[in-house]
Amino acid sequence: MAAPAPAPPPARLAELPGELNYIQYEHSLEAQYLPAIRALISKDLSEPYSIYVYRYFLYQWGHLCYMALDPVDSSLVGVIICKLEPHASHSPSTIRGYIAMLAVSSAYRGHGIATALVRMAIDAMAGRHADEIVLETEESNTPAMRLYERLGFLRSKKLHRYYLNGSSAYRLVLSLKADDPDAGLDYSLSDHEEAVGIS
Ligand SMILES: CC(C)(COP(=O)(O)OP(=O)(O)OC[C@H]1O[C@@H](n2cnc3c(N)ncnc32)[C@H](O)[C@@H]1OP(=O)(O)O)[C@@H](O)C(=O)NCCC(=O)NCCS
Repeated sequence: MAAPAPAPPPARLAELPGELNYIQYEHSLEAQYLPAIRALISKDLSEPYSIYVYRYFLYQWGHLCYMALDPVDSSLVGVIICKLEPHASHSPSTIRGYIAMLAVSSAYRGHGIATALVRMAIDAMAGRHADEIVLETEESNTPAMRLYERLGFLRSKKLHRYYLNGSSAYRLVLSLKADDPDAGLDYSLSDHEEAVGIS
């Protein structure tokens, strides 16, 4: 017997159900929200992340993870996961923020939720003295490219066949130092590869 056709994605909401709650992740919320975080991120991203990858980020940098919650039932509608650490390949070493994962539930897109989450993450990392923030995104991911470039990220490098599915990526960088002569140029290390490599 043929498998049933997959359910169509929920229609986009013309209006949000009210003011969303934006909260910082805490370990006490793991049981309530980690399954929803994994489901939301794995739905649209090509890369399969194991539970260890999520815990790697959330245990150490939960304070750099923000969630957008529906005001009616507190369900998860958006999430951003980041890390921040010294980056030794620059001399002197810099403090590099990294946006590892970002996703908004398809019905809730186009209302500025990802923009708000990225801004919160940038502010949190800037407040902890980040010199730069980097990320990779699939070159064909137009919504994500537009979002980040609108927020001031620059393309620093094209990464050919970067993802397991064979697609290429751009590394994007936001320099938070006004006088950084290398802003927008090449960066050699891949945080994504490091993170995935631990799984
Ligand atoms: C990429 C992604 C996170 C964007 O989420 P989003 O919440 O729709 O993003 P925003 O609403 O902030 O921005 C999207 C658009 O809505 C517009 N917008 C922002 N606020 C708005 C508002 N209040 N009302 C209407 N439109 C608004 C933005 O200007 C933007 O338009 P653009 O097409 O010109 O860029 C989402 O598409 C997603 O989850 N994709 C799958 C996962 C993914 O690709 N993640 C990124 C990997 S790096």
